[in-house]
Amino acid sequence: MTQTTAPSPLPLSEADTVPSLYRSLLAVLENTLTVPSDRPDETPRATLNCLWALAAGQPLAISQANQAVIGELDPTAQEVVQTLVKRRLNGELLPYLVGRQDFMGIVLTINTAALVPRRETELLGRTALDCLRTSTAVEPWVADLCTGCGNLALALAVQAPHAKVWGSDLSEDAVALAAANAQFINRPDVTFVSGDLAAPFESDAFLGKFDIVTCNPPYISAAKLDGPYKESHRHEPRLAFDGGPYGIKIIQRLIQDAPRLLKPGGWLLFEVGLGQGEPIRQRLARNPVFDVIGTHPDSNGDIRVLAARRKS
Ligand SMILES: C[S@@+](CC[C@H](N)C(=O)[O-])C[C@H]1O[C@@H](n2cnc3c(N)ncnc32)[C@H](O)[C@@H]1O
Repeated sequence: MTQTTAPSPLPLSEADTVPSLYRSLLAVLENTLTVPSDRPDETPRATLNCLWALAAGQPLAISQANQAVIGELDPTAQEVVQTLVKRRLNGELLPYLVGRQDFMGIVLTINTAALVPRRETELLGRTALDCLRTSTAVEPWVADLCTGCGNLALALAVQAPHAKVWGSDLSEDAVALAAANAQFINRPDVTFVSGDLAAPFESDAFLGKFDIVTCNPPYISAAKLDGPYKESHRHEPRLAFDGGPYGIKIIQRLIQDAPRLLKPGGWLLFEVGLGQGEPIRQRLARNPVFDVIGTHPDSNGDIRVLAARRKS
């Protein structure tokens, strides 16, 4: 008779270790939650992990909640998590419920003063980082216009520590949130100011001094915001989306005003909406202020970031 080695014990299945309330809420979310197409990380499980941690007293972003141990909740916290799941299913945004959001490897606080940073905007962040890494400036200056909660400005400051970074926004509440985020990630050297587009930097101290200007402007037409996008965009500030009658009002002003902030050879980098890339590239190519235009497509091949170099 041949001796067989006893099989090693199976790892305990999740069903044995995870509280039954977690399993039942997960089933509810899996059956009913529509994962937002522009926030694809918010799967049913990630959503529940965040809400579970919040009910247990820990506000965590998805990247953190997915690592957290799912422990038992006391009876009060069990009621809290069930209420949170209901609120999410009633349309409230997960990042606003939890007050945390991931962006380019950093965790930020978020509230309704600012748009929830989208994964797609990381393309603009990566493009700006490439530009910073190839810059010959010892301390390149970066201005992030329309900064919202400060996500791009702070991610660039963290990943390119040699850069000096400012952010600005028309909304004073967004600027307050961005400034709080600078403290939250312990980067008080990143300065946030309020004002209309390039206006906060229209002084001798700044004009012609920036190596890079980044911007994720509002670029949705008012008609879309009042029509097909009304429901999906109702929780975030309209100011963050509204690009005027054709969606390009702020982009047009950006192309006109940002070059004044740039050094000769400096780069303007900005995100555009679906379908806006090629017409705006053509507009940049006709503008004698710029000598090199770059286009950066997303994984579907759609141009979502444009880069324009100020002529030397
Ligand atoms: C699409 S959100 C971008 C937020 C953030 N930078 C991001 O990528 O997630 C656009 C931001 O532009 C701001 N904004 C709108 N009009 C503006 C203007 N005229 N000048 C400066 N900021 C403006 C809004 O308050 C909002 O925070």
